[in-house]
Amino acid sequence: MDAKARIKDLVDRLNYHSYRYYTLDAPEISDTEYDELFNELKGLEEKHPEYILSYSPTQKIGYKVLAAFEKVKHSVPMLSLANIFNYEELEDFDTRVKKFLSTDTDIEYVAEPKFDGLAVAIRYENGIFVKAATRGDGEIGEDVTDNVKTIKNVPLKLMGQNYPDIFEIRGEVVIPIDEFEKLNLQKMSDGEKTFANPRNAAAGSIRQLDSRITAERPLYFYAHSFTNEDLFKSHSEALIQAKKWGFTVYKDIVVTSDINRIKNYFNKLIQSRDSLNVGIDGVVIKVNDSGLQRELGSIARSPRWATAWKPPAHTTITIVKSITVQVGRTGVLTPVAELESVEVGGVEIKRATLHNASDLEKKDVRVGDTVVIERAGDVIPAIIRVITDPKTHRHGPYKFPMNCPGCNTLVIREGVNFICPNIKCPSRVMESINNFVGRNAMNIEGMGYKLIQQLVEKKFITFFSDIYKLNEATLMMLDRMGQKSAGNVMESINKSKSVSLDRFINALGIELIGLENSRELAKRFGTIDKLFHIKANDLENIEGFGPNIIASIVKFFNDKRNIDEINELHSLGVKINNEQSLSSNKFSGLSFVITGSFENMTRDEISKLIESHGGKVSSSVSKKTSYLVRGTDPGSKLDKAKEFGIKTLGLKELKNLIL
Ligand code: IVH
Repeated sequence: MDAKARIKDLVDRLNYHSYRYYTLDAPEISDTEYDELFNELKGLEEKHPEYILSYSPTQKIGYKVLAAFEKVKHSVPMLSLANIFNYEELEDFDTRVKKFLSTDTDIEYVAEPKFDGLAVAIRYENGIFVKAATRGDGEIGEDVTDNVKTIKNVPLKLMGQNYPDIFEIRGEVVIPIDEFEKLNLQKMSDGEKTFANPRNAAAGSIRQLDSRITAERPLYFYAHSFTNEDLFKSHSEALIQAKKWGFTVYKDIVVTSDINRIKNYFNKLIQSRDSLNVGIDGVVIKVNDSGLQRELGSIARSPRWATAWKPPAHTTITIVKSITVQVGRTGVLTPVAELESVEVGGVEIKRATLHNASDLEKKDVRVGDTVVIERAGDVIPAIIRVITDPKTHRHGPYKFPMNCPGCNTLVIREGVNFICPNIKCPSRVMESINNFVGRNAMNIEGMGYKLIQQLVEKKFITFFSDIYKLNEATLMMLDRMGQKSAGNVMESINKSKSVSLDRFINALGIELIGLENSRELAKRFGTIDKLFHIKANDLENIEGFGPNIIASIVKFFNDKRNIDEINELHSLGVKINNEQSLSSNKFSGLSFVITGSFENMTRDEISKLIESHGGKVSSSVSKKTSYLVRGTDPGSKLDKAKEFGIKTLGLKELKNLIL
């Protein structure tokens, strides 16, 4: 191979491997192998500068120093987002969208994080990176091409083939929180001013006149929008395509027509915010369908089809009295700060979570420290940071117990957590039984925390099935248990033996699985034994199921002890009522649009009918629509369907299809 061809070959290979590494998080070669290829390329390029490609990875090191940034006019203005702060406002947003589209069919939304960084737009021509600009005032930004080029997970050449000639992608440049901390430490030891937060650090790094400095900063680009959503059927498809072309998109997003799910997503994301390594400052909710986005358009510099849900941050300052450790049902030890009681946003707070061992180490919270605590929505209060001056006399660093506070077993470290590995640990058993008997689980009335505590301490209960082995005489051996109360508890236990599948799954206490996910599983699988020995690929494509959730379900149902326990419950008379699964799968993979009015059924009823046979109902006609269900006075959707050559059906014809 001659030098020119070898250079091209090396560039393609290195770009491919950096895509594997940064975008897919699945490297195929070691760092050393990468470095060897990189050095070979560098050597060849030095000998043959005439063959250097603009998209060579060697171009990522930064080389130019500018006097000032040039101004760039954005091809399409970079809009901002209107904010909402609670669920009612989300409902209002949903209502506004439907009203504007004159529809009462549910709208499909995407919910994704609102990244707390600096917005940039990147332009590709024939797949090659050509220009990048900051948001500026939305109309005019600054040309930061050389700097954005140095960002490791920004492709200099798009992967694959099917990209448009001109493509502009927008997203947020961020610095991961751990890298931000390292950067500040470095700045401190160099006697330089530190950055106030990761956002400022990212912005400062992108607005560097010397791109060699930018190249040293650990910047990442998260893609989140496109100047031409029309290229794609929907926003979620755009994100999938962007990933294929080599961009990093956030892994955990939600596509749903149920705004309740958005609420759960928001709560979860905000709750886990401190343990994520990227700064997140809310959730962005977008209408998924590109056609609908176009119809909705924008008003006063914000799109009508999107909104940002921001967490209300109630913060205050208080003192840590002590640090205790709680054992959860899965054995995870959670450090908790016991606080001087204070009021935050109208609620009295005495305790705050420190999330996990690693978070506690990072924040270095010590007894006696003055700390900032935050309570956002209905999320458990958390400690944000210590404000005690580190130079003053403080207690020593907190030492995490090496033995489980519940059973004294040696704890083990698993990632960010310490775990008690003893499945018979009384603290674990307490928590899992408490979950098992709960209202959204087996619903055993009268079996409160105090009673469970006694039963566990006296070793009457270790496994779920032990509950169904209890009798009146045993119960009467406990404090404050007369014959009457014992009789009542026995009656509740017997009553609980008939349970719906979703509540039963929830009762099992599988890590990361609450009632909502349990419902999803029940709906999908219909009977409990279909879940036995389940594989990860049986769980893919379920709305809201990310890799962690899937892994947790697989782990649970592939553990023989759990299957044995379920069978034991069964033999003790627990009857799990199967879920009504779909009437049929006849419409699976088909999408329908309903238009006009109907004599014997409402549109809602027709939607439900279609969905019960596995079909999807959307509110606007696109090329992907399979059928238009037409009533009287159809309107413009019929014209559009004709234009795309989409088949139309009357109600009778629809029903014939499912006979
Ligand atoms: S969509 C027209 N998605 O928030 C809106 N923006 O207030 C197009 N931002 O400067 C933007 N995370 O850069 C979108 N997941 C996300 C985002 C996001 C952060 C920024 C965006 C913009 C600002 C809007």
